[in-house]
Amino acid sequence: MHPDSGRKPIDAAFARELRAQLPAAVGVVTTRHGDELHGVTVTALLVASHIPPRVVVCLERPSRSAELVAASGVFAVHALSWSQMFLADRFAGRAPLVDPRFGGVPHRSGVTGAPLLANALAWLECRVVAAWPAGDHVVFLGEVVAAEAAAGGDALVHFRRRFHRLQG
Ligand SMILES: Cc1cc2nc3c(=O)[nH]c(=O)nc-3n(C[C@H](O)[C@H](O)[C@H](O)COP(=O)(O)O)c2cc1C
Repeated sequence: MHPDSGRKPIDAAFARELRAQLPAAVGVVTTRHGDELHGVTVTALLVASHIPPRVVVCLERPSRSAELVAASGVFAVHALSWSQMFLADRFAGRAPLVDPRFGGVPHRSGVTGAPLLANALAWLECRVVAAWPAGDHVVFLGEVVAAEAAAGGDALVHFRRRFHRLQG
């Protein structure tokens, strides 16, 4: 057992360290509000229910993403493939030279108006049915209104602050 176990205060830095220990699928949440397209890299995502299909995403608050998803009431969540690592950096705001985030990124509009990124392992398009503040994040529950899955491809996973390739 770790000598500090149960004793270390769970401050913001330690909470990030704990999160870094959880291998997580890397996704991008997109939305459209009026003419504004937005996308954000996330690992806080999960399929919460199969029947009916429900998805949960957690977005930092305050943030442009949380504001726009709350205002539009729609979002699409994408599971990125290994070959889309550049999108994970782009939509985390780590590629300032190529802002705006959608510049040169192939996408089309879904039934909700949210942009759907081409070549993701899967995407699920959702309408927000509930939202709860959870500390420095907002938890959005979405009802899935459309979805698509790719036949193959390797997954992009985040673990210990690095991206990894998970063979499909
Ligand atoms: C691997 C990785 C995972 C992330 N996961 C989340 C997440 O689950 N929720 C979130 O709100 N931000 C997450 N972020 C941070 C956002 O992508 C980043 O802060 C983004 O610039 C926020 O954009 P916005 O300020 O336009 O909303 C993650 C970043 C990375 C690199």
